[in-house]
Amino acid sequence: MRVAIVGATGAVGHELMQVLESRLKFDELLLYASPRSAGSRLTFGGQELTVQVTPEGPIDADVILASAGGSVSKALAHRWIEGGGVVIDNSSAFRYDAQVPLVVPEVNGEAALSHRGIIANPNCTTAIAVVAVAPIHREYGVKRMIVSTYQATSGAGQKGMDELLEQTRVQLEGGQATHEVFAHPIPFNVIPHIDAFQDNGYTKEEMKVVWETHKIIGDSSIRVSCTAVRIPTLRTHSEAITLELERPATPAQIRELLARSAGVEVRDDPAAGLYPMPLTASGKYDVEVGRIRESLVFDGGIDLFVSGDQLLKGAALNAVQIAEYLQEKGALKERQRV
Ligand code: A2P
Repeated sequence: MRVAIVGATGAVGHELMQVLESRLKFDELLLYASPRSAGSRLTFGGQELTVQVTPEGPIDADVILASAGGSVSKALAHRWIEGGGVVIDNSSAFRYDAQVPLVVPEVNGEAALSHRGIIANPNCTTAIAVVAVAPIHREYGVKRMIVSTYQATSGAGQKGMDELLEQTRVQLEGGQATHEVFAHPIPFNVIPHIDAFQDNGYTKEEMKVVWETHKIIGDSSIRVSCTAVRIPTLRTHSEAITLELERPATPAQIRELLARSAGVEVRDDPAAGLYPMPLTASGKYDVEVGRIRESLVFDGGIDLFVSGDQLLKGAALNAVQIAEYLQEKGALKERQRV
């Protein structure tokens, strides 16, 4: 099996290489990025591999993990799969296309099997939320879901992290922080603005949580509202989530349910200072869930807090898990050589 990464030099590309090395069984890796990086060398499994310019035609790989942005995927993904490979796309280019499955393997892995060459990897905030919310929905029925997010700068890629570090240094040295990546200076600030504002007053990032939760869980009757906020951390998104349920649940029942749910680590002992945080969730494959308590607003409802490494579960890990799922199910097509 041959795997390709498009966007290998980016923040998610870097994580894809780490996750591939630790999880997937395959024979060969191809690395692609923009012409800026062509010829640069990256190390994988002790070997140096050369980064090539992203092809504008078929890619000779069984699995193509794409993380070079929506416009690149939109323009080229259909060409890449002409050799019979499958694209697992990290951008939002195809997520709302009815022909394209949007997959979180712990929740709707089987949807990946109906792909027609492209599978979409969800928005990072949604992927992290549904790992915790989908098991609760299956058992107790979620009627309403209110989400407030605390999103790391790496959600905007390597350049987001660079801006946080560089501008923090500028500010600590007494200078005036500027901004290019974010709508305002990010050091010592929080910014309730991620992606473009829509006509309804929500941002696109917030609406992604609505649309994608519906598509992944497969139930568009759930009422979802999100406020998405950028905070000055490097990686891992956190989310405060309030759920109204069809059938009332106690915190103990939710704790017990999540403790046996795939992809979740229950970290919930406030008296001992144990709750989800970017500090502890960064680098972890599981999403931390804690602060599980009875809602004071919805009778029998639940409040919880999650932290998930959005470069991993929100991006690279989820994409590799989709590839693993296809491999396990024998669903990777016999590829023509191109
Ligand atoms: P490059 O490093 O050569 O610019 P991030 O999300 O961290 O900003 O990373 C984006 C990734 O997508 C990088 O690997 C970047 O390559 C790649 N990329 C950006 N634009 C293009 C493009 N037009 N064609 C192919 N790859 C691209």
